[in-house]
Amino acid sequence: MEYDGKCSPTIRTRTIMPLIVQLSDTHISRPGQLAYDRVDTSTFLRQAVTAVQRLPQRPDAVVITGDLVDHGQAEEYALLQELLAPIRDIPLFLLPGNHDNRDTLRHAFPAQPAWMASGYAQYSVPLGPMQLVVLDTVVPRRDQGALCPERLAWLDETLHQCRERPTLIAMHHPPFRTLIDGMDDIGLLEGAEVLEAIIQRHPQVQGLISGHVHRHVQTLFGGTRAVIAPSTAHQVALDLSPGAPLAWTLEPPGILLHAFTPQGRLVTHQITTLSFAGPFPFQ
Ligand SMILES: [Fe+2]
Ligand SMILES: [Fe+2]
Repeated sequence: MEYDGKCSPTIRTRTIMPLIVQLSDTHISRPGQLAYDRVDTSTFLRQAVTAVQRLPQRPDAVVITGDLVDHGQAEEYALLQELLAPIRDIPLFLLPGNHDNRDTLRHAFPAQPAWMASGYAQYSVPLGPMQLVVLDTVVPRRDQGALCPERLAWLDETLHQCRERPTLIAMHHPPFRTLIDGMDDIGLLEGAEVLEAIIQRHPQVQGLISGHVHRHVQTLFGGTRAVIAPSTAHQVALDLSPGAPLAWTLEPPGILLHAFTPQGRLVTHQITTLSFAGPFPFQ
């Protein structure tokens, strides 16, 4: 549906509250190289970009929650930029994952919002009437994540400053156990309890979005909804048996669309990035 300039309730709602598309774990490799020798992550991202373009409403922001590239290399970030070019008119917000390199990322995307002075990729930006607060959970050269006292103190102060605004927190490593042991072992291993206490103190936080697990997973965390996005490429195999070996699959990938009601309540939709027929009218 195209915006016809008339103030239907749907259109009016969207202009008040932002629509945020979340992509995650794009894992872009050097041109011509496949991740794990099998996964063409560039083609998968092209499909994800097409899925963003075919949304009936233009999103107000695209957030990519880490593992943007596979090895933190400049060539990979250059290809990522090229692949995202078709949606460059939508404000883009990036954060690093364990496969990224903070400095190379910063150099490749200089227009990203200013980070913490100490170099962590943490920032807070207004999106219409709400606030996006980005956290950096990366521990260089480690798969697991951490939030040190400095990063957590910044979050506490930042949330205090935007206490009147519905807020969405974005980070790479999810702060909760998914019951996929192999991923939980490389999850947020430091700072999760303090993070939960901080979120509990700031009821304007409407949601926490993350990646890393390559599956769509949800739980409650600190009284707010915590959501993990699927990867735009390969997924982690679903096996909740204790100690199950970690594996990946080519289950259909997806992206998430986060919308906000006029009351500031977060509503999340999962969208396939595969092509499909329709929509067809019900009549
Ligand atoms: Fe990943
Ligand atoms: Fe990751």
